[in-house]
Amino acid sequence: MMHKDSVIAVLGGRGMVGGAIVRTLEKRGYTRIVKADRQAADLTRQQAVYDLFEKVRPEYVFLAAAKVGGIAANDTYPADFIRVNLQIEVNAIGAAHKYAVKKLLFLGSSCIYPRDCPQPIKEEYLLTGALEKTNEAYALAKIAGLKMCEYYNRQYGANYISCMPTNLYGPGDNYDLSASHVLPALIAKVHAAKEQGRPSVEVWGTGEARREFLYVDDLAEACVFLMNNYDDSRTINVGTGEDVTITELAETVAKVLGYGGQIAYDPSKPDGTPRKLLDVSRIHALGWRHKVALEEGIALAYADYLQRFLK
Ligand SMILES: NC(=O)c1ccc[n+]([C@@H]2O[C@H](COP(=O)([O-])OP(=O)(O)OC[C@H]3O[C@@H](n4cnc5c(N)ncnc54)[C@H](OP(=O)(O)O)[C@@H]3O)[C@@H](O)[C@H]2O)c1
Repeated sequence: MMHKDSVIAVLGGRGMVGGAIVRTLEKRGYTRIVKADRQAADLTRQQAVYDLFEKVRPEYVFLAAAKVGGIAANDTYPADFIRVNLQIEVNAIGAAHKYAVKKLLFLGSSCIYPRDCPQPIKEEYLLTGALEKTNEAYALAKIAGLKMCEYYNRQYGANYISCMPTNLYGPGDNYDLSASHVLPALIAKVHAAKEQGRPSVEVWGTGEARREFLYVDDLAEACVFLMNNYDDSRTINVGTGEDVTITELAETVAKVLGYGGQIAYDPSKPDGTPRKLLDVSRIHALGWRHKVALEEGIALAYADYLQRFLK
């Protein structure tokens, strides 16, 4: 259990997830938070990571740093994605062991599960089938990371845990249309259409695919909850347990942004997998649930978008 004066390092502290974890820890009254960004240490360099841990002596570590990207980047640079993510994991988990960190939480992603999983996806489906090819390198690195945590627990009696979040959105998200995920892309597109008075917005696919979305501050609450309440080597899913169709999502974005035009679907473009929903019964059974509903979360994300890009 973290104390209010425990030394807590958030690696990747300036990223969307790391930033939300820092905000949540501050809100909850933790006083010795070290927000470690790339300037503090390039996590691909082992000695730099040792130097950081030597200086900070963290008791608790949130490992929220990773090389992340959209489908195109993952598909084009698989060697970079596997190398950088493995290096970050080996260096950070190795340093946690060397400097006797009390507990570490590793952030994975739902792409670790087999491409053709039964729905909703239970944690035990891990390593039961082939991965999605386009982000296989990233997923393999993430699987190695969560397995490293498990093996350090087994061999050294460490307490390293991992969680697998669903699609996230919120403050600090990436709105660059060439790399962004579906929800931030929709916010950027609908905003532009509204500003330019365009009568419609085009969305790829039929609109029938179903996806799950979690507001990033809810994920951060879950991470703090797990750090304080979960000591199991098995990875744990974090999501809402609810999904929506892309049509429902686009209509909610249009409503929140006050856009009255049409959403035009292009069925000649791919939908991706028909459904991707995490089974969150294990984290629900522990007593954690998300709080921010989709419409409210989109309004908060849009406020951040306006503030960051349109001042
Ligand atoms: N976004 C999602 O929908 C989602 C969903 C599920 C899981 N996750 C997981 O959550 C974690 C964080 O993702 P995110 O969305 O917060 O991504 P993000 O906003 O890109 O944050 C990642 C952070 O890691 C830092 N980083 C990367 N390489 C580094 C290095 N060599 N040394 C030091 N810092 C480095 C980045 O710093 P720079 O900015 O300087 O590169 C960035 O601040 C990842 O493990 C991801 O798999 C995300």
